[in-house]
Amino acid sequence: MPRPFSIVFANAQGGVGKTTSAVHVAGAFAETGVETLLVDLDPQASATRHLGLDPDALDATLTDVLIDPSRGIAPAVHATAYPGLSVLAAHESLGTLESELGAMPDRESLLAAAWPGNPPFRLAVFDVPPALSLYTVNALRIADAVVIPVQTHPFALASVPRTLDLVDRVRRHLNPRLSVIGYLATLYDKRTRVARECLSRMIAEWGPLLIETPIPTNVALAEAARDGRLLYEADSESAGAAAYYAAAAEIIARWRETRNGSAARVAR
Ligand SMILES: Nc1ncnc2c1ncn2[C@@H]1O[C@H](COP(=O)(O)OP(=O)(O)O)[C@@H](O)[C@H]1O
Ligand SMILES: [Mg+2]
Repeated sequence: MPRPFSIVFANAQGGVGKTTSAVHVAGAFAETGVETLLVDLDPQASATRHLGLDPDALDATLTDVLIDPSRGIAPAVHATAYPGLSVLAAHESLGTLESELGAMPDRESLLAAAWPGNPPFRLAVFDVPPALSLYTVNALRIADAVVIPVQTHPFALASVPRTLDLVDRVRRHLNPRLSVIGYLATLYDKRTRVARECLSRMIAEWGPLLIETPIPTNVALAEAARDGRLLYEADSESAGAAAYYAAAAEIIARWRETRNGSAARVAR
């Protein structure tokens, strides 16, 4: 089987739709029949919960993987209610573990050490914490691509240079393969002028690197997170679901471009 394609949804800012995007794009990939692994690297474990799992009820999570990478990721990979979609689950104990790991020489490569050489999935989607933490670096260390979700709010663009700076440093020191394959406009309320202006700025700034479909502000997405399920299950016709299906299709298209070496839209 070819090496899986790995995508990190990263932004130095919190509350911009990273987790919502990671789980819905992963869910859309899985629905098209592509075996997908969602890797939850956030101590808040929101992606794990969003997929209906209770981190405290699991026998193994990412914490166990990072403590002993030699056992691989398999014990902490759990099936979800969605065919083709599994999750490498997070647990809040990742919070205290981070400071302990900080002293280890191989701290940036712990997930890489556990990562399978011949995995049973084609796509891996990483959800990372908002702070540019050790866990974000571990994800970027093994990823092929970064998607940067940016809230359509005037202040939100300010977090992008910090995010790009980290991507750049990881590329130079740890993973030359890494590239940004898209910006995703999130929490877009087209009724407000400020959001429309912000989207225009994003188009001007990022051109074809901006994923064409903005994700609308849609209360059904927040309700799906609360209920621990994907919006596709609750309301596959909703605006939020339609936007995430379209965004996932664009990301898949960019993945194929990257794989075929015709990556016209990859920023380096
Ligand atoms: N498009 C959206 N419409 C409505 N609510 C959203 C949308 N995207 C995210 N949310 C809600 O906003 C909050 C922050 O989103 P989240 O995906 O957790 O962001 P992050 O992972 O960047 O911190 C969550 O409560 C989530 O349910
Ligand atoms: Mg999050």
